[in-house]
Amino acid sequence: MWALICRSDYRIATPLLLLPDSAWKEIYRLNKVCTSWKAEQKWNIVEINNLLDEERECYNIPVRICQIALTLELDWIKLSVNIRMEIATANNQEELRDKILKRKKDLNAVIMAHNYQRPEVQDIADFVGDSLELARQATQLDVEVIVFCAVHFMAESAAILNPTRTVLLAESTAGCPMADMIDAEDLKGWKKRYPKATVVCYVNTTAAVKAESDICCTSANAVKVVESVPNDEILFIPDQNLGNFVAARTKKRIISYPGYCITHARLNAKQVIMAKQAHPDAVVVVHPECTTEVIELADAALSTSQMAKYIKESRAKKFLIGTEEGLVHRLKKENPDKTFYVISRALMCPNMKRTTLEGLAQTMELKRNVVVVPEDIRLRAKRALDRMLAIV
Ligand code: 13P
Ligand code: SF4
Repeated sequence: MWALICRSDYRIATPLLLLPDSAWKEIYRLNKVCTSWKAEQKWNIVEINNLLDEERECYNIPVRICQIALTLELDWIKLSVNIRMEIATANNQEELRDKILKRKKDLNAVIMAHNYQRPEVQDIADFVGDSLELARQATQLDVEVIVFCAVHFMAESAAILNPTRTVLLAESTAGCPMADMIDAEDLKGWKKRYPKATVVCYVNTTAAVKAESDICCTSANAVKVVESVPNDEILFIPDQNLGNFVAARTKKRIISYPGYCITHARLNAKQVIMAKQAHPDAVVVVHPECTTEVIELADAALSTSQMAKYIKESRAKKFLIGTEEGLVHRLKKENPDKTFYVISRALMCPNMKRTTLEGLAQTMELKRNVVVVPEDIRLRAKRALDRMLAIV
């Protein structure tokens, strides 16, 4: 028996998805945080300490800041995590919204949110969309400030495409673990191994990786982008599942880098089969970041906004959703007569959920979390993004 101690701030919420209900009850008892996240694995709580529980001011509105230290055990693994949350009480949400909207006017700003954001964040945004739509939208805005409620690479893409505007990331610690699975040095090594290949880079990458790539793609246009390249050998980075998805739809040789989305990887074929048995009349839609086995069981594999369009146009009334649960808020709003079942409770991206209304308000108030990309990297990364935007 041995122990691995892991301290996490950046991807803090990942292990929380695995917490048993008893842990959530305890957290709720201590902090009145949230009881809706549940778990499928049996972690034991070794220790739980309330580090901080106090009221602070955000725009003169009291906001409760809670911080908990948890030590968890699963077989030989021991995890120590700190959870910090800024919580607004129900009666100050309206006030917060008013302040955000007023500040947006003062800053001449626009608020963009990804489809996976919390409902209240989606509801205050000017644009809600998938990666492709957000990147496209970012080139067409007549504002001084773009506030991004999403993960880092999405705001970075906006900064690459908009050098004259200030881009703020609402929550500075919201990153994408898949994007961090490859850096520019890794890519240079792979390019040496496959010197004749064209590098097609999923938009879920850092600016430095985009700068080393030939062309970008998103899940909405990956096949189209690969088909547009005048080369039969493609080095596809960093998502192996999306790479496999493309490989099944093109004659080109796809060499996939072994990265993956930690959230979509939690969905397995067994869960899909069970969900289909429980809801035999439901249409199954999943994201191309899912594994090949999951995609093969689905009726369609689509980007998040493509899913929204597909579901709106479908005559079916029930849908099994195989992507991050945040999308369901938009789906319900757009299709009040249809029913949605998220296939697994583990389909929650901890990074996307880090953005709260309070964090957004503070970011706008302080004009903090400015996303800056060094000019030499920006210009090379922009070339890869521009090539994609010229195609789709
Ligand atoms: P979409 O482009 O479909 O919005 O996906 C982005 C993403 O990060 C999926 O996990
Ligand atoms: Fe990254 Fe997956 Fe979260 Fe999308 S859902 S931001 S790919 S970790």
